[in-house]
Amino acid sequence: TRVEKGGYKHFMAKEIAEQPGILKDTLDAYVKEGRIALPGAADAALPFADLDRLTLVACGTAHYACHVAKYWFETLARLPVEIDVASEFRYRQPPLPARSMALVVSQSGETADTLAALRYVKEEGVGVGAIVNVEGSTIARESDAVIRTLAGTEIGVASTKAFTGQLMVLALLALRAAEARGTLSAAEIAGHLAALEAMPGLAHQALQLSERITEMSHALSEARDVLFLGRGAMYPLALEGALKLKEISYIHAEGYASGELKHGPIALIDRTVPVIVLAPRDALFEKTVSNMQEVMAREGRVILVTDAEGAAEAGEGVWHLVRMPALPDPIFAPLLYAIPAQLIAYHTAVAKGTDVDQPRNLAKSVTVE
Ligand code: G6P
Repeated sequence: TRVEKGGYKHFMAKEIAEQPGILKDTLDAYVKEGRIALPGAADAALPFADLDRLTLVACGTAHYACHVAKYWFETLARLPVEIDVASEFRYRQPPLPARSMALVVSQSGETADTLAALRYVKEEGVGVGAIVNVEGSTIARESDAVIRTLAGTEIGVASTKAFTGQLMVLALLALRAAEARGTLSAAEIAGHLAALEAMPGLAHQALQLSERITEMSHALSEARDVLFLGRGAMYPLALEGALKLKEISYIHAEGYASGELKHGPIALIDRTVPVIVLAPRDALFEKTVSNMQEVMAREGRVILVTDAEGAAEAGEGVWHLVRMPALPDPIFAPLLYAIPAQLIAYHTAVAKGTDVDQPRNLAKSVTVE
């Protein structure tokens, strides 16, 4: 079936806008009557209660989804997680504990390095599941269990809706693991599930920021370097935000853990380097505020993406404020903050006039090494 742009200027814009619906479809498919209900075969192949370690392997944006999920599995299910990019994992050939399993994550299900990582895990005699978007893909066929993301066909080379689709599936798996391992009570799990159920509506609200972000992105498009900062589960989202921006706008961007600012990137800060801080008002917000102050003291221009509470506490002196809806559960913030990160990249690229859907030198699926 031919996929059309449906009135949008680019596939990427359409795919960003599809996310509330995809998050809802994912919840409808994998949560039944208030309980996580994975496809039976997948559930049987994920022995979370018996694991000492979970290994998550992927490339590109899917790897950052794994990196976010590490925080979720470790916090919610107290399950140690190792993450790696597939190109390193396959040649590093790490020892895999007997009481462990791996999950590979791939939109296309055809990425050569991810497939090789999967085959290595199987040779080592450890179970491997796949989170894939393309049904019947090679990675889906070769893994012990498949959990599909329900993003539909993604055309834009820079992954957007597949990423949030992966995050939603991984969030549900982390809660399933918490349930199996008894690390959260039934009431706590219900509370987290309710927070996920709120995501489609919140994502819809976040999309309304598009116009505000368009104005801001004109200024951003003049930058040569941009820094993204985040803490906790928002740190990998900072990495993803930087990846999106460099992929389609060709502006050099780096993602950093906020606390690492003084170990290097602060040396680059002056008024020409915008610093995008992705920070809901959470338990560590104060620490992020002091990082921002360090940036502003060096005339750095801060774009703060936060909620109303965060804005009230830290909005003064920032260059631009992107006000997000408040979250019931800040641990799942990457799911929602992915949207402004994508919109910033998109509108900056449009302002620069690049080929948004087909950025130079990049392929949708890297099937050769
Ligand atoms: C390429 C694409 C990225 C994608 C990565 C992994 O680099 O441009 O958008 O994240 O491959 O692809 P996969 O299909 O395995 O998720």
